[in-house]
Amino acid sequence: MEKIIDETKQGETLVQSKNEKNTKNLYIESYGCQMNFSDSEIVASILSKKGYNTTSILEDADLVLVNTCSIREKAEQTVRKRLEKFNAVKKQNHNMKVGVLGCMAERLKHKFLEEEKIVDLVVGPDAYKDLPNLLEEVESGQSAVNVILSKEETYGDISPVRLQSNGVSAFVSITRGCDNMCTFCVVPFTRGRERSRDPQSIIEEVNDLWNKGFKEITLLGQNVDSYLWYGGGLKKDFKKATSMQKATAVNFAKLLDMVAKAQPGMRIRFSTSNPQDMTLDVIEAMAKHENICNYIHLPVQSGSDRILKAMNRLHTRKEYMQLIDNIRKIIPDCGISQDMIAGFPTETEEDHQDTLSLMEYVKYDFGFMFAYSERPGTMAARKLEDDVPEKVKKRRLQEIIALQQRHSLYRTQQHLGKVEEVLIEKESKKSDKHWAGRNTQNTMVVFPKGDYKVGDFVMVKITDCTSATLIGEAVGLSK
Ligand code: SAH
Ligand code: F3S
Repeated sequence: MEKIIDETKQGETLVQSKNEKNTKNLYIESYGCQMNFSDSEIVASILSKKGYNTTSILEDADLVLVNTCSIREKAEQTVRKRLEKFNAVKKQNHNMKVGVLGCMAERLKHKFLEEEKIVDLVVGPDAYKDLPNLLEEVESGQSAVNVILSKEETYGDISPVRLQSNGVSAFVSITRGCDNMCTFCVVPFTRGRERSRDPQSIIEEVNDLWNKGFKEITLLGQNVDSYLWYGGGLKKDFKKATSMQKATAVNFAKLLDMVAKAQPGMRIRFSTSNPQDMTLDVIEAMAKHENICNYIHLPVQSGSDRILKAMNRLHTRKEYMQLIDNIRKIIPDCGISQDMIAGFPTETEEDHQDTLSLMEYVKYDFGFMFAYSERPGTMAARKLEDDVPEKVKKRRLQEIIALQQRHSLYRTQQHLGKVEEVLIEKESKKSDKHWAGRNTQNTMVVFPKGDYKVGDFVMVKITDCTSATLIGEAVGLSK
């Protein structure tokens, strides 16, 4: 089984948060990237101050929110199907209000109200602080829309309600938006221009999480390596910064260093890295701090120089391979994963073979693989015909997935016989007698529970594996 975020996490509902004084119920469902899941926690926090507790029972809801994804057409179709279900429930409960958040809200704006009659509220990713006002409008019988993208908003001052959390690992967002303009991607249109969050507020959130018992954080951004704090403002305006601001600016390597030092017991991960922005000092910061996990999600999308160029990915195949070589040199046991797109416009069999041979070179630990889906408004949609037949896309995707499965198995086999540190996150899905957690490379490890508990760092001897999971036995606590 390959790990495909949209498939495994789709429609996860959030667990309850309760404040005795609150009288209304919010049901919130999230789709797509980790940022959406993290944003839903911010939304729950904003609304908990306005009288809402969260519920996991749709029928009990006064307000239903769906945090949406536009990355591929299928993600949008899934949300539209869910709206049909909400509509059926609303017929029984006329007072229930329905709101759409996230990337589809931003992409479709007012059109949403016309296309989906059930929707009362449309709110883009930068407008969540306006939710209380918008809800007042909705309660007075109007529909309400705010899809204004911001130059500043990072929600740095909001302490998220940790809803979907196991109490062990949490997401901390560090940048919002993206300036990269990959030609296939809708994100720059739905999430706006790139801006970074104040490192001080990041550290405060990490400290707070540690005090609450969390053991692992993932620093989140569309493009974390591009993180740059110079006192606020858009990344693209950095050139206009004062020389003082430039001299004291904090880049991603520095931020990693600061976070790792602030909480040496906390495991640190980050996602996602765009290869064109990943510098050596980031890899060196990872090597320097033991608590930064040896794992990099490094999407490449294609192994063909011609396609990389058409995608506006600003590196070549060779530069990517050099980056991989550097990672392996500095962190020999680093886990590396990919995102791939099969069937980008004009892709030939030769381009596809280049993708397979690049995969052969890297032998990724795992990956997220997709057939190209044309997104309205993107450069690729405007300039290039979606000319690879569906059947060919599917076949190439299958070849990519099959090869990845072989590589995943090759990688998991390398762990056999080793003793590795695992942070226990939850019960294994397959057995209530086993714990599940990840090693530093981000691979799932399951082992008999013994006397250990969720949140423990345990040394596990790896005795068996599938292509996705390591199986082992605990040999003792690691700290
Ligand atoms: N930087 C982001 C990438 C967002 S999209 C991040 O934080 O993950 C995640 C992945 O979806 C991309 O890496 C790409 O492989 C895939 N994707 C994006 N747009 C797509 C499209 N139009 N068709 C198919 N896959 C797409
Ligand atoms: Fe999308 Fe490329 Fe940014 S994939 S999120 S435009 S780095």
